Amino acid sequence: MESSGTVVVVGLGYVGCVSAACLAELGHRVIGVDRDQLKVDAVLAGRSPFYEPGLDELVSKNLSAGRLCATTCLPDGIQDAEIALICVGTPSERNGNLGLEQLRRVAGEIGEALARRERRLIVAVRSTVFPGTCEEVVAPLVGERATVVCNPEFLREGGAVRDFMEPSLVVVGGSEPEAVRRVAALYAPLGVEPSLVSLRTAELIKYACNAFHALKIAFANEIGALGAELGIDAAEVMATLCRDVRLNISPAYLKPGFAFGGSCLPKDLRALTYRATRLDLKLPLIESILPSNDEHLARAIRAALDLPAERIGVFGLAFKENTDDLRESPVVALLETMIGKGRNLRVFDPQIRMDRIYGSNRQFILNAIPHIGRLLDNRFEDTLAWAQHLVVAQKPSPAYAAQIAQSGLPVLDLTGSQI
Ligand SMILES: NC(=O)c1ccc[n+]([C@@H]2O[C@H](COP(=O)([O-])OP(=O)(O)OC[C@H]3O[C@@H](n4cnc5c(N)ncnc54)[C@H](O)[C@@H]3O)[C@@H](O)[C@H]2O)c1
Repeated sequence: MESSGTVVVVGLGYVGCVSAACLAELGHRVIGVDRDQLKVDAVLAGRSPFYEPGLDELVSKNLSAGRLCATTCLPDGIQDAEIALICVGTPSERNGNLGLEQLRRVAGEIGEALARRERRLIVAVRSTVFPGTCEEVVAPLVGERATVVCNPEFLREGGAVRDFMEPSLVVVGGSEPEAVRRVAALYAPLGVEPSLVSLRTAELIKYACNAFHALKIAFANEIGALGAELGIDAAEVMATLCRDVRLNISPAYLKPGFAFGGSCLPKDLRALTYRATRLDLKLPLIESILPSNDEHLARAIRAALDLPAERIGVFGLAFKENTDDLRESPVVALLETMIGKGRNLRVFDPQIRMDRIYGSNRQFILNAIPHIGRLLDNRFEDTLAWAQHLVVAQKPSPAYAAQIAQSGLPVLDLTGSQI
């Protein structure tokens, strides 16, 4: 393990006390600081200040070994410290906003204490804070002798020691690579490849994780409620859903991109919500999925309408790549609004060329959306040569992505393909 100076953990609540005891267990010299004398006394007596399985033993063992101690005096604590982990509470205010009072006070106290020492300090914020807080709130208060890093905590109460010792994720965000590396090195003995990101990214990752966990629970509960109404064992439904680790429990569909569409998802969501309503069953989460998708499409339409160019080329017409199915394609809605607002468009889709498609899709274009059919190019070169700006509405293959990059056209990428 890389030898480091003392680590100070400010706040000996669930996150702070577990972090302090576990970091000491990993071999670091740790000083816990809390303004609550009872918490400090508990640690100094070799006990956890609250119930958390396995924590008493770790506190007692590391106190005896001289790797862990505690104080109520922050300036004493950080005197020789190399890293300070801030683990104070960030409770909800009445309006839902995050309460930063404890964080502000601790950051201010650190700033004052640093004015009396020469050595720099790395301040790692472990409390959950909204993106921008480290830069805008913590950094000005701790002052120029400190480097601020964000190191969100993912432990769950009741299994916090195990979550710390066997983390599924270690995230360290910051703009000074050496400080980020030093904080990541604290966790090196755990053998997890840390995710090193920017400050704001680290802050948002924590919120994304918690929102995703809450979303999963609410989704499972709504399927459970529907199953109960229909006399179906929803536990079996969800357990079977989880067996698909390619599409269901996997990174599939978890990239920010364009709105969904096609012949299945909108239709099946409509049927699900309609039938739930007939059962007098409220499923607010599932009912919100189509409105969420509509709002996402509306954002894309606004962005496309804001383009300054006279002539706009659009890549993609079907709801996703490698299909010529135009049913419920969000691109059709995008184009219809743009045409309605008088925009000058040409469209290219690798799978939808009037010189090649036959049958129902050709009929659909000719009968249902002839105004869009007239805009279709058979050759992408023609679209690129004509356009002044390109809207990418469907993930391009590597060959088309290269062609887009070579064209030098400005691109509005709705797909997250990062062309
Ligand atoms: N509890 C969890 O499961 C969990 C998990 C991950 C992240 N988080 C986040 O971690 C943060 C801490 O959560 P927690 O549950 O440990 O909070 P907590 O309320 O249990 O602990 C906060 C501690 O900070 C101390 N404190 C407050 N101001 C202080 C000051 N000026 N000086 C010294 N000590 C001070 C308090 O006395 C208290 O002991 C929050 O932002 C929370 O959202 C919590």
